[in-house]
Amino acid sequence: MNNKFVIETRDLTKAYGKFIAVDKLNLQIVEGEVFGFLGPNGAGKTTTILMLMGFCEPTSGIVRVNGYDPAREPIKVKKNVGYMPEKIGFYDDMTARENLEYTGRLNGLNSGELKSRIDSLLEVVGLKDKSDQLVSKFSHGMKQRLGIADVMIKEPKVAIFDEPTSGIDPEGTDQVLNLIQEMARQKVTVLISSHQLHQVQKICSRVGIFSQGKMVASGSVENLGRALLREGQFNIIIPIAQLTDKLKAAINALPSIIDITSRDNSTTVVCNENISDQLEEVVLKETGLRVKMKVEEFELEEIYMKYFKESQP
Ligand SMILES: Nc1ncnc2c1ncn2[C@@H]1O[C@H](COP(=O)(O)OP(=O)(O)O)[C@@H](O)[C@H]1O
Ligand SMILES: [Mg+2]
Repeated sequence: MNNKFVIETRDLTKAYGKFIAVDKLNLQIVEGEVFGFLGPNGAGKTTTILMLMGFCEPTSGIVRVNGYDPAREPIKVKKNVGYMPEKIGFYDDMTARENLEYTGRLNGLNSGELKSRIDSLLEVVGLKDKSDQLVSKFSHGMKQRLGIADVMIKEPKVAIFDEPTSGIDPEGTDQVLNLIQEMARQKVTVLISSHQLHQVQKICSRVGIFSQGKMVASGSVENLGRALLREGQFNIIIPIAQLTDKLKAAINALPSIIDITSRDNSTTVVCNENISDQLEEVVLKETGLRVKMKVEEFELEEIYMKYFKESQP
């Protein structure tokens, strides 16, 4: 196994009797990445996460988290890995602060450092004025945010969130994802499983698409889209509606052009390479206008549909 990966699996497999929940999974996640697990219910996302955390023993294959085998050295793994399960459990009869104190103490933090860390975390997750309220009074979204504080309290190197935004409203979802993104900025490696494709697209550097225990595709949304939807082609949009024949001819003379189509208020150039800079130069030369080209982006939704035409989650 390679030390440069924070999370690595090789042919990781989990079988329940004859049923294979996770099937020869190969995963390599580097420091500071935000990696998204996507896929319909039952695809094997949670089972994979449980094996990464050492809560469930693999049937075969290898798994390393920060270089440790979670099945053999679960304590060393858990020391540096924060985990938020799909159904977060807090002590309902304790306040937000008391719950965080409890987790902090379990992780060996002393009362002195704990107090200031809890104060700042409750502030970060927007629960400062609810610090001393019983968790039983919390909404689902508030519990999710407290869950993030609970993950962050031990200042983990790796944070794993299983469906962190399920069942909360769009505003709560944004808050949770912003917090996760902020963790990533602090160099925490993040793994997140989710159904909310738009949201995942916003924060993930790479995604893995799971189906029936297998990771059927992985990569940045940009690369997956280009490979899957456009067969390596770039669609570059020039914000000019009608091209003069002269400009059109000049563009056609550029290398790798496949097609030029003008629509209502823009022109799309299909080509084999990203020739945005050259297009800008040509447009400037022919029209005297400095216009910014836009390379068409991909929607995770569209990529996902390629794999799950019938079984949308
Ligand atoms: N303890 C278990 N015993 C038997 N089957 C299980 C067990 N846990 C999970 N499974 C099955 O494994 C498959 C993958 O489940 P899971 O990892 O929870 O999927 P996901 O998180 O992607 O929705 C599902 O078909 C589920 O029913
Ligand atoms: Mg799950």
